[in-house]
Amino acid sequence: MAEKRKIIMDVDTGSDDAVALMLAMLDDYYDLLGITTVNGNLEVKLTTENTLRMVEFLGKQDEVKVYRGADLPLVSTLLPTTPQSLLPIPRREGESIPEGLHHAAHIPTPSFTIKEQPESAMVWLIETLLASKDREITLVPVGPLTNIALAMRADPRIIPKIREIVIMGGASERAGSKSMGAEFNAWIDPEALEIVLQSGCDITIVPLDATFAAYLTEQDAQRIRDIGSPEADMVASLVLKYGTAELLAAQKEKHIPMHDSLALCAVQFPEVLKTVECNCHTDISMGFAYGQTIIDKRPGSTTPRNCRFALGADREMFVNWIIGILEKKTARKGA
Ligand code: RIB
Ligand code: CA
Repeated sequence: MAEKRKIIMDVDTGSDDAVALMLAMLDDYYDLLGITTVNGNLEVKLTTENTLRMVEFLGKQDEVKVYRGADLPLVSTLLPTTPQSLLPIPRREGESIPEGLHHAAHIPTPSFTIKEQPESAMVWLIETLLASKDREITLVPVGPLTNIALAMRADPRIIPKIREIVIMGGASERAGSKSMGAEFNAWIDPEALEIVLQSGCDITIVPLDATFAAYLTEQDAQRIRDIGSPEADMVASLVLKYGTAELLAAQKEKHIPMHDSLALCAVQFPEVLKTVECNCHTDISMGFAYGQTIIDKRPGSTTPRNCRFALGADREMFVNWIIGILEKKTARKGA
C-alpha cells in the first residue's frame, strides 16, 4: 500500500464535511492527525459537535481528536454594512438556521458522548506543525480559512512544515452561492483565504467548478446505500440531505456536489482534478465581488503562479473512489 499521508482536516461540519470526515477515517491511506473546526455552515459550537459525532459514530475517538476553532471570520463581520453582517452569517452562538443543506440542530448519529480537546484549533495546529518535519503534513481545509490564516499569522514558522494545502473553496466560471461570484468558504472569510494564497505554500484549490463537475446523483446515493453497512447508510443519507430540493431546484439538475470529499480525494488522486497552474487571489475590497476568487487567465501572463486551480473533475473516478472506500470497509468487516 502507498505510504500513508499525514493530514489535518479543518471543517465546518455540515453534511458534506461529515461525508469527507467519514471517508478520511475509513480509508487507511489517510493518517488523520486531528480535526480542527471553524464557524461556517453552522456556529462553531455545532460544527464542533457534528464533527465529534462523526468521530464517535466510527468509533475513532481514541485515535482522532477534535479541536475547536474560530467562531467568527477575521474581518468580514466587523463592519455592520458588509453582506456577511447583514445576512447575518456566519452564525454566532445561538443563532438558529433553517433546516436545509445541513441539519439545523445536529447530524443524527446514535450517540454523542465525546468531548473536544482543551487546546484551541490554532494552538494545536501550531504545536503539531512545529513538532513535525519540514513538508510532512498536508492541510485539508474544507470550510472558511480562518483557523489556517490565524495560525500562519501567529507563527509563520509553520509554513515550511506544510507539505500541501488542498482547499475546498472558491469558484471561477461557476456562480457563487452567497453572492454573485463568491463561493461560501471564500465568502465567509475572504481575508483568511487571501492570507493563505499569499503564504507561498504548495496549494491546490478545489472550487465549485470542480465539485459540481464531480456531482453525485440520487442513483449514486442508492448505490452507496445498497452497500448495506451502517457507514454506507449514513453517507447515503448525508448525500441526500445535501441534495435538498432547494439545491437541486436552484440548479435545475439532480446534481449533488460532495464538495469537501472531492478535496480529500484529490490529496490521494490529484488526477481526479483538471487543474491549471495560475495566479489566484481573493477580492477583499468589500465591493460587489467581495470574497470572489479571481484567477489570471491571460494567455502568456507572467504573474507568479501561486496554486493549481481545478476547472473540472472526473465524476466517475470520484464516485467510484467513494464507493470503493465503503465497500472495502464492509469487506474488512465481513472478513
Ligand atoms: O461552497 C461549498 C462549501 O461551503 C462546502 O465546504 C460546504 O460544506 C460549505 O462549507
Ligand atoms: Ca465545508
